[in-house]
Amino acid sequence: MNQQTVFLIIVCTWCQLQGGCAQSSRPHIIVIVADDLGWNDVSFHGSNQIPTPALDTLAYTGVMLSNYYVSPICTPSRSALLTGRHPIHTGLQHDVLVGAAPYGLGLNETIMPQYLKQLGYETHIVGKWHLGFFKKEYTPTFRGFDSHFGYWLGEEGYS
Ligand SMILES: *[C@@H]1O[C@H](CO)[C@@H](O)[C@H](O)[C@H]1NC(C)=O
Repeated sequence: MNQQTVFLIIVCTWCQLQGGCAQSSRPHIIVIVADDLGWNDVSFHGSNQIPTPALDTLAYTGVMLSNYYVSPICTPSRSALLTGRHPIHTGLQHDVLVGAAPYGLGLNETIMPQYLKQLGYETHIVGKWHLGFFKKEYTPTFRGFDSHFGYWLGEEGYS
């Protein structure tokens, strides 16, 4: 089972998300979720082993959320990130989804891209989903994302 650290850079402020800004001045929002990334694996946290100048620039010009904690596995963390609810309230607190598990993040949950769509944003996801795909309604493009380039399960080979 993968250990996971969620690493977030949100390039906006919450008041902007709430519609406080005119449409044309709304910032782009980039959320990066990195598996198996240790706290000190980015140079803006002090690593001198792994230089991360692009991430450092995003961090220094964005908002660093440094006091948030995640489950040590993917599915619970992703469900919490996208819903804003603790995994025990999404029913996905126990484990990662495996294979074609006949469940996923409940369709009764409104998730981040759906809120962003209401504010006029285009929403795209790149990489893994890992929140269920046993019915098409559970997949990213039925959950508020305009597009998804990636895979529905937890891992994929690159060769
Ligand atoms: C969605 O349904 C599940 C299962 O009944 C429940 O645990 C969860 O709290 C519900 N979510 C919302 C947002 O009502």
